[in-house]
Amino acid sequence: MMNQLHACYTAVRKHTLALTEPLSDEDCGAQSMPDASPIKWHLAHTTWFFETFILERMEHGFKPFHPAFRILFNSYYNGIGEKHPRAQRGLLTRPAMVEVRAYRADVDARIGRLLASELPAAQRNELATLLTLGMQHEQQHQELMLTDVKHLLAQSLLRPAYLEAPLPPAAAAAPLEWLRCEGGVIEIGHDGEGFCFDNELPRHKQYVAPFALASRLVTNGEYLAFIEAGGYANAALWLAEGWDWIRTNGLQAPIYWFRDEQGAWQEFTLHGAQPLDLNRPLTHISLYEADAYAHWAGARLPTEAEWECAATSSSSSAQMFGHCWQWTSSSYSPYPGFAAAEGALGEYNGKFMLNQYVLRGSSSATPEGHARASYRNFFPAGARWQFTGIRLAR
Ligand SMILES: [Fe+2]
Repeated sequence: MMNQLHACYTAVRKHTLALTEPLSDEDCGAQSMPDASPIKWHLAHTTWFFETFILERMEHGFKPFHPAFRILFNSYYNGIGEKHPRAQRGLLTRPAMVEVRAYRADVDARIGRLLASELPAAQRNELATLLTLGMQHEQQHQELMLTDVKHLLAQSLLRPAYLEAPLPPAAAAAPLEWLRCEGGVIEIGHDGEGFCFDNELPRHKQYVAPFALASRLVTNGEYLAFIEAGGYANAALWLAEGWDWIRTNGLQAPIYWFRDEQGAWQEFTLHGAQPLDLNRPLTHISLYEADAYAHWAGARLPTEAEWECAATSSSSSAQMFGHCWQWTSSSYSPYPGFAAAEGALGEYNGKFMLNQYVLRGSSSATPEGHARASYRNFFPAGARWQFTGIRLAR
């Protein structure tokens, strides 16, 4: 089992570094806004997670790679102690990338030695559990690295492409159909084998009235029709907070849409600026925009129970995974009987269960094998830099 774990660990760690290959050291150091982190910080923080939660507890004669890293690369764990301020991560010109790479290599070697060492069964199980959590955590950061670097590159008028190859045009969108679900008393939450985060537990019953879910995601073309129909100027479509938000920020389109000199819509993507592809699923919108669009389309957003019910019962894939995270109308709150882990790791999910909304599915930036039907992603209603889109319900 330990060999297999080590192989998984190595693959995850390698993939993170592979994501930095198209980037310069300058790209890796900058922070485009407080919500986004520099790539260098992601590289160090994911390493810090293994060093702090595994090596510090389990390594014989533990000595930190650098004592200040405990503070510099702590994201939000008050149980660990002080933290470098989130909005000032871009000011960390030191340590340099070369030192962060050395930090990664050092922790990787020490994790390897720990895995190869003789451990009592209880410690071996604890190591396996923590290592698995650390790998899942790193995969979450792999997605954040792509969303954060996209936001960063979008700040330059050069509109640099992260990926050289152009984005191939999407296939014509299928006509939207309504998948009917009977509802009733259903069960949601993680079921059975394999890893899940604590916020997916416990599995429990919920009553869901009969509903219908759209057979695919809303496309750029459909959202453009909403814009052209004056969607951003019609207060009647918007939640009060959403209306204030678009007015205050002067918003009239999704975050990465812009018009070229001829007035044609373009979209900034990881492949650089592209003509807006009307068939592609819409992405990078806030919950406010998703809700206003649904209102305009005579529909609504699904609840997370409806989404999970449809994802587990329907045979059709219906773009549930792999395109963009789908906003639900469900507040991110604990399932009945939710219990956070003890100690600092209990801060992983539970303490964020206020003023955020659940997103379901996965996106084009989600690493292979990381998604599942019970997965609960969450962001505040105004977040737009993640790969977020719209699935309608009624
Ligand atoms: Fe993290």
